[in-house]
Amino acid sequence: ETGYFTYDPGFVSTASTRSAITYIDGDQGILLYRGYPIEQLAKQSSFLEVAYLLINGELPSGEQFRAFEHEVAHHTMMHESLKNFLNGFHYDAHPMAMLCGSVASLSAFYHDTLDMNDPEQRRLAAIRLIAKVPTIAAAAYRYGIGWPFRYPRNNLEYVTRFLHMMFEVPSEPLELNPVVAKALDLLFILHADHEQNASTSTVRLVGSTGANPYACVSAGIAALWGPAHGGANEAVLKMLEEIGDAKNVASAVAKAKDKNSGFRLMGFGHRVYKNFDPRATIIREMTHKVLADLNVSDPLLDVAVALEEVALKDPYFIERKLYPNVDFYSGIIYKALKIPTEMFTVMFAIARTAGWVAHWLEQHVTPDAKIGRPRQIYTGAAERAYVPVDKR
Ligand code: SDX
Repeated sequence: ETGYFTYDPGFVSTASTRSAITYIDGDQGILLYRGYPIEQLAKQSSFLEVAYLLINGELPSGEQFRAFEHEVAHHTMMHESLKNFLNGFHYDAHPMAMLCGSVASLSAFYHDTLDMNDPEQRRLAAIRLIAKVPTIAAAAYRYGIGWPFRYPRNNLEYVTRFLHMMFEVPSEPLELNPVVAKALDLLFILHADHEQNASTSTVRLVGSTGANPYACVSAGIAALWGPAHGGANEAVLKMLEEIGDAKNVASAVAKAKDKNSGFRLMGFGHRVYKNFDPRATIIREMTHKVLADLNVSDPLLDVAVALEEVALKDPYFIERKLYPNVDFYSGIIYKALKIPTEMFTVMFAIARTAGWVAHWLEQHVTPDAKIGRPRQIYTGAAERAYVPVDKR
């Protein structure tokens, strides 16, 4: 049965998650969103159409997509008092901290009117999150650099609107190369969902308690932030900068094999893919094309290509089936799109919000859905009697 997911034996669970949203075959390197291969969606779809597909289970007709696009545009504004919330952060707070806190605060604006038993209210909450997360993300970035917030321009399409909120300044019109919006839209498609990854499992676990969707997505953002998960794209760029030159990659690979070094090749390996991550294959090709289209040359790309070449030939990596994952090349593209490093994981969060809300909606219509309650293998002390302090 596709989409059937069981936890690793080491993670004793009394339940296993069933989902019809995304299918992964880690050995074959297959990734399907609602049955559609990621390679076809990457070539022919748009992020907002993929968001519709993930939530509704079917690709929209032209009319359905236009209505969805209009509805999302209608909810892009953030409550004015959310600015005070953002202004409460220290100026150099990490944008993921600001995003995580601000998204949770949305429950203060909308949760009291949200009837979680009403499917239409749940759908509206999902739309609000897809619409507002980019607005909040751009506001967090601008707060950090001391620029005034930019309101969403609803006559623009989803990704272009976000780029305008990120980079437009009052003093002059924004000259946006269409390559940038197209590249970011494709990266958002590739990051939109990925079955029961750590952050999506977090959203589902929090959602299983009946918590509101804003708190659930905020928990997902927190989980995504970790360098073993979505934080890897930021960590890859730092790693490539530290390696500095293609001639140093052999020593980096050697260090990654040395257990005592505590160093891992960021952007390599995956819990599920024991073959190429199909997204990494698409992003690798895309990296060369986007840099050429933008006439950007980045020495870090040479370092990444050299690192991949050496690692993929190394028995340590071959035996452990460690391949580049979605994060290995994405940071090089984000850098070429002039997205600042500290915003890389925020990009991941904007895209994954579509998957998170799709899973949150799905679990609310799953018959006899139960509260998540993972079990454990107990490794502590056997039962023993209490000893009063004067006898210890
Ligand atoms: C994402 O789950 C998802 O779907 C996530 C994601 C999504 O779309 O949501 O795909 C997004 O999070 C991608 C992963 C991004 N993270 C990184 O790139 C961080 C670097 N990678 C690793 O930390 C690691 O590969 C994980 C966390 C991704 C996966 O870890 P696993 O499968 O638990 O692997 P493991 O820790 O059991 O390691 C198996 C062996 C170990 O060696 P041995 O003990 O067998 O000797 O492989 C080694 C590890 O030391 N290993 C690595 C390595 N990853 C695993 N050695 C060097 N470099 C690495 N990157």
